[in-house]
Amino acid sequence: MPVVSVEGSDLSRQIMMKLPDGPKTPAIWQTLQWVVNPLGFMDTCAQRYGDMFTVYVGENFTPYVFLSHPQAIKQVFAADLNQFDSGAANQIVKPLVGEHSLLLMDGDRHRRERQLLTPPFHGERVRTYGQLICNVTEQVTNQMPLGKSFSVRGLMQEISLRVIVQAIFGLHEGERYQQLIPLLCSMLEATSSIWRASQFFFKTLQQDLGSSSPWGGFLHRQQRISELLYAEIRERRENLDHSGTDVLTLLMSTRDQNGQPMTDVELHDELLTLLVAGHETTATSLAWAMYSIHHQPEILDKLLQELDTIGDNPDPSSIAKLPYLSAVCQETLRMYPILFIAFGRIVKSPIEIMGFPFESGAILAPCIYLTHRRKDLYPEPEKFKPERFLERQFSPYEYLPFGGGNRRCLGIALAPFEMKLVLAKVLSDWQLALVDSHPVQPTRRGFTLGPTGGVRMVITDRRRQKLRAPQPSAL
Ligand code: HEM
Repeated sequence: MPVVSVEGSDLSRQIMMKLPDGPKTPAIWQTLQWVVNPLGFMDTCAQRYGDMFTVYVGENFTPYVFLSHPQAIKQVFAADLNQFDSGAANQIVKPLVGEHSLLLMDGDRHRRERQLLTPPFHGERVRTYGQLICNVTEQVTNQMPLGKSFSVRGLMQEISLRVIVQAIFGLHEGERYQQLIPLLCSMLEATSSIWRASQFFFKTLQQDLGSSSPWGGFLHRQQRISELLYAEIRERRENLDHSGTDVLTLLMSTRDQNGQPMTDVELHDELLTLLVAGHETTATSLAWAMYSIHHQPEILDKLLQELDTIGDNPDPSSIAKLPYLSAVCQETLRMYPILFIAFGRIVKSPIEIMGFPFESGAILAPCIYLTHRRKDLYPEPEKFKPERFLERQFSPYEYLPFGGGNRRCLGIALAPFEMKLVLAKVLSDWQLALVDSHPVQPTRRGFTLGPTGGVRMVITDRRRQKLRAPQPSAL
C-alpha cells in the first residue's frame, strides 16, 4: 500500500510517520470538504483509496486514518484498553461540553467515570423510563396543530430533551427546567448550519464579538445554561437525598480514591455532556426514521400491522421487542448514522492493522458511514430496506452506529428503546404526511448527520387512541 509521510500535529508530537495513502490536496481544502460535504468527501476517498486512507480533517488539520473494513474495525474495538487514547482527539468538542467531560478523558479516569455513568443507562434501568417516554411523546404531540407543517426534527428534539433531562435530574417541573430546555435547543442550533459548525473546526472563527455575533451568542447561551446547572447543583448539595436514582444524585454521592467528591465544575461538565450527547442524536435518528417510514408507505403499512398485533395499551417492553419496528430503527441508523465516524483512536504503542504498521501518535477513525455503505455487507446500500436486519445478523464490526470498544456509546440501550416507543406512539396515534415528496438529503448538523430542512410533515388526522399513556401528572 502506498504511504505518505506526515509532519505530525500537536497530537503526534511533530514526528514523521508513515500513514496510508490519501488525497494530496492541501489540508485546509480537505477540512473544508469535510465540513461542507462530508459524505461526498468520504465517498470519493473510499472509491479512490479503498478501505483505509488518510485525510486531514481534524482540529489544526490533524491527519486521521479512516477505516471501513470490518477486520480493521475489529482490531481497533477489540484492542487492549491501553492501546489507544480518544479523549485527546476529542478536543474539538471542549467548547460545547467543558474540559471535565467524559468525552475528553482517557485512561483510568475515563474508566472510573464510565463505571459511574453506566448504571443509569443500563438495560434494566432504561426500561423504567418506558412510561415516561410514552407520556412525554403524548404530551408533546398533543400540542401539534392539525394540518400545519412542522419540523419533525424539532418535535423529536423536544421529546428527547425532556426524556434525558428527566433521566439526569430525576425531576421535570419547575422554572429551571422550563428555562433549560429551550436554551439547550438553541445552543445546539448554534452548531447546526455548516457556517456555524465551521467555528468548531477553525479556531480563528471563535471570536466573541458580543452576544449577537455567532461565537459570542454561543458563549452567551453557554453561560446561561451553566448558571442554571450550577444553581441546580448548589440546591442539590444543600438537600442531597442519597436514595435518588437519577444521574445527578449518583454523581454527587460518589467519591474518588482519595475520598473526595466531584467538584461543581466536574459535575457541570458531565451533566452538559449527557444532555448534549443524549438528545440531539436520538432526535435526529427519529426524524430520519419518520422520513423513511413515510417516504415508503409500504413500510408504514407493515409497521401499523405489526403494532396491531400487540393490542391496545401494550406495555413498553412488548413494543421494544417488535421485530419489524426494531429492524426499521436499525436500518435508520445504518443508512443515516448520526456520527459519521467513531471517536478518533490515538495509537499509544505501535500496532499493525490489516498489515499496515502504525506508529504511536497516528489517529485511527472507524468510519461508521463507509462501513454501513459497504456493498459486500449491505447489497443496494443506498436503499432503505429494514428486511436486511430480519434476514441476517451483523457483527459489531459490520454494524456500528454506537461505535464500540471502551468508548462505546453510553446511550446504546436508551436510544433504540426510546426510538421504538416514540415511533410506536406517534404512528399509532396520528396520521402524518410528508409535506413534500422529494428525497431529503443528509447534511452536516454540527458534528452529526441530519436531514436537510429537518423533515417537514403535517398531521392530517388522529388515527386512534391505541397506545394510551397514563395521567399527565405522572410526567
Ligand atoms: C441514536 C442515538 C445515538 C447515537 C447514534 C450515538 C452514537 C454515539 C457514537 C458513535 C459514539 C462514539 C463511540 C465510539 O467512539 O466508539 C457515542 C459516544 C457517546 N454517547 Fe452516544 N449516541 C446516541 C445516543 C446517546 C444517548 C441517548 C446518550 C446518553 C446517555 C449518549 C451518550 C454518549 C456518551 C456519554 C458517549 C461517550 C462515551 C465515552 O467517551 O466513553 N449517546 N455515541
